[in-house]
Amino acid sequence: MAKKKKTPLFSSKAKSVSITGKTTFGNAKITKGQGSLATSPAGMLPSKHTRRIIRTHHTLLKQQAIIQKDIEKEIAQIKRNNQTNGANITKHALEVPTLTSEKLTELQNSLESINKQIEENGGIEIYQKASISGQDNSRGGDTSKLLIEWLQELGITAHKKPKKEQGTTEDVKNPRKISLLEVGSLSAKNACSTSGIFDYIERIDLNSQDPKYIKQQDFMQRPLPKKSALVDENTEVFDLISLSLVVNYVSDPQTRGRMLLRSTEFLKKRIISRKNSKALQNKSHIKFNDTGDISTQYTEKGLVNDSKYDEVFPCLFFVLPAPCVTNSRYLTEDHLTEIMHSIGYTKLLKHKVTNKLAYWLWSFGEPLDGANENFRLSPYVQKELNIMKNQSFNGAPSNDTEKQGKKLFPKKEVNPGGGKNNFAITL
Ligand SMILES: C[S@@+](CC[C@H](N)C(=O)[O-])C[C@H]1O[C@@H](n2cnc3c(N)ncnc32)[C@H](O)[C@@H]1O
Repeated sequence: MAKKKKTPLFSSKAKSVSITGKTTFGNAKITKGQGSLATSPAGMLPSKHTRRIIRTHHTLLKQQAIIQKDIEKEIAQIKRNNQTNGANITKHALEVPTLTSEKLTELQNSLESINKQIEENGGIEIYQKASISGQDNSRGGDTSKLLIEWLQELGITAHKKPKKEQGTTEDVKNPRKISLLEVGSLSAKNACSTSGIFDYIERIDLNSQDPKYIKQQDFMQRPLPKKSALVDENTEVFDLISLSLVVNYVSDPQTRGRMLLRSTEFLKKRIISRKNSKALQNKSHIKFNDTGDISTQYTEKGLVNDSKYDEVFPCLFFVLPAPCVTNSRYLTEDHLTEIMHSIGYTKLLKHKVTNKLAYWLWSFGEPLDGANENFRLSPYVQKELNIMKNQSFNGAPSNDTEKQGKKLFPKKEVNPGGGKNNFAITL
């Protein structure tokens, strides 16, 4: 069989590039005069173009991540060499050794070339524009519509009157405050925002399209919630997190796993209330019922015991392009389920796969129906969480973990055969 022609990676002859910065997905700038990316009269990019732009952007980000990793490895190697050589240098002990090597220059040039190609493809701005066009009804639509449909099917309906203004709602009678963290938000007018279900919505994106309503923030750098924000601080921990078409944006399998793991830290904790529960002891406004043994969650207004909400929240709305699980060598739906279970997404509330997209609604935490009584986070996952909590973790692949070499879910073939893609999530 004829070998597939590889896209040339290393073409630029440019000399210098900063190697100090970590991976920043937002570093690609929009190039002026994107003649071939002209929009249609309605302001939408033609669908052929949007697909090409999205695909190219993802491919280039992947190449960028590989080279950045190689650069980090090469720098570590040079430092090790310098240390070894330094042992023999006495005269020039105060000289700072330079970080150079032929290989490093080559890698830097390659990185420069990739960054240039990302710019030429329009950068994150045009990528987002292409994604917004994809959210148009005629192109498959806004994924959050399905989330709202599912919530309604699960009995979670709007208790607030939606107002016309973006993302705001008018207070009616509010049985329980429901909060949403939307990671990778392109619009404050999607179905989540207009549904009236959520009392508080925080939208974040690497590159905000609407700074008034969408905060520019990298989720992997978002400060972790305070310990005290266990269940009742809507701005720190949330009832629902949406990760729709975001994890596949991340180029590195390990960072994808960490993004999923990180999401668990920003969810409210489901409390199986017990009178002796430490978490509840100093919350004087909490009233227990007679048995003191039912599942509850509490708000700033006090305990709200409503099993309908407890069945659903806290939860994660997760969306990937379907081929990530239907046609990948390294990820299947079953394998993903194992990964999700291992980090605490214990119950699948809803699930759908179409030709284009795969959707999941995962409930987080100790299950209410006793279906998984032995659920405990494995020591590995616990360790990863501790690293995160010690703030030494910023989501970037760390060499330390690589060195440990023991992954709970390494990159291994789970779906062999030809014609598959290489999408993977590791942990
Ligand atoms: C394909 S768009 C998806 C938008 C929308 N959620 C949807 O479902 O259509 C992916 C978005 O995720 C954002 N994104 C990727 N990684 C992110 C991160 N670490 N933190 C915040 N936003 C991120 C990108 O900037 C981009 O706007």
